[in-house]
Amino acid sequence: MLKTLVKHCVRQNAGFISCCCYRSVTSEDVNKPYVIDLRSDTATKPTKEMRDAMASAKVGDDCFKEDPTVNELQSRVAKLLGTEDALLMPSGCMANLVAALSHCQNKYCEVILGDQSHMFLYEVGGMAQYGGLQTNIVKNLGDGTLDLDQISSHIRPADDRDQPQTELICLENTQNQCGGRVLPLNYLKEAYSVAKKHNIKLHMDGARVLNAATHLGVPPSDVTQYCDSVMTSFSKGLACPMGSVLAGSKDFIARAFRVRKSLGGGLHQAGILAACMLVALDTTAHRLHEDHQRARMIAEGVIEVSSPAANVDMDGVDTNIVMIDINKEGVSTEDFCNRLAQVTEAESVDLGERIVTKMFPFTKKSVRLVTHNDISDDDVRKTVKKLQYVIREISA
Ligand SMILES: Cc1ncc(COP(=O)(O)O)c(C=O)c1O
Repeated sequence: MLKTLVKHCVRQNAGFISCCCYRSVTSEDVNKPYVIDLRSDTATKPTKEMRDAMASAKVGDDCFKEDPTVNELQSRVAKLLGTEDALLMPSGCMANLVAALSHCQNKYCEVILGDQSHMFLYEVGGMAQYGGLQTNIVKNLGDGTLDLDQISSHIRPADDRDQPQTELICLENTQNQCGGRVLPLNYLKEAYSVAKKHNIKLHMDGARVLNAATHLGVPPSDVTQYCDSVMTSFSKGLACPMGSVLAGSKDFIARAFRVRKSLGGGLHQAGILAACMLVALDTTAHRLHEDHQRARMIAEGVIEVSSPAANVDMDGVDTNIVMIDINKEGVSTEDFCNRLAQVTEAESVDLGERIVTKMFPFTKKSVRLVTHNDISDDDVRKTVKKLQYVIREISA
């Protein structure tokens, strides 16, 4: 490999390398773009504090409920979410599945879900595969809610022997596919009273419920008081490598423990993971407002260009997710993301730096970007610079 002694700040655009401080770099270094991964908040890496806590975690066999760190995590999360009990889960998908299987104990029953919900779209139909549960789909409105009259009209009559029985309603908060929208507290209260009126359970897919609470400026338990169970993920904005927690009543969690085991989710010295999640509760959980601010800054950067080719609905930016609507003939959302992931020679001259931004072509019309623990203010500045350049390019 060709090694050269060159300056740390490299000006490549003038066709030469200029030097102001020396370090050993390769010719590959010189061309390496700065990469900003905004595809998902699952891109986060665990912090040093998390890694240290994992290395020194006190552990025991969780099969016997003897892992002190798991026990501490579960009781802290139960307190945070205002529930009687909680259970560590390897993933959010497993937690949602365990919730559905634990609530719906009868055969021939049905679950009401949003058509844009993660549980319906992206969990490989687990409820049907493992529980024989039929899903009854209600359209998600743009703000992430399900219309309450629609929910009511989808609930099956309890005395009809020909129809499956509705046993569960699931809401997602924040609603990922709708752009990280936060469901209002009064909406949650009303949805819960619809469920109670019909003697149906309500589960909240709260993978990002801490983002919802941060946006509303209330304790998480204010948000989760209107459901019978809630799942929250630590592997997204909280930066843990994996791990979710399912919370609910003591009876529900006792059932969930058995269901988790039946799905191969029995845990042993899982304190290694719980230690990391405890660090998240003390650190990353308290900085989600920074992600929300940074998401707004990027969204404002898109709007600043004033191009009909790319737009953001600012009213829809509640939390750490931004949806950019692409509206340019001949430019698909894949094309737009591919262009953001490349650096042209002209661009590196014009911008004076080589920036790659990774975003997700979420639908045919919108590109999703998500801010998270590994995104700094300088990354936001670079992202805006790159986005504005590419938007102007496709608008020309
Ligand atoms: C809203 C929502 N629910 C559930 C999940 C599943 O979480 P996991 O990836 O930990 O299985 C995700 C993952 O992105 C999600 O966004």
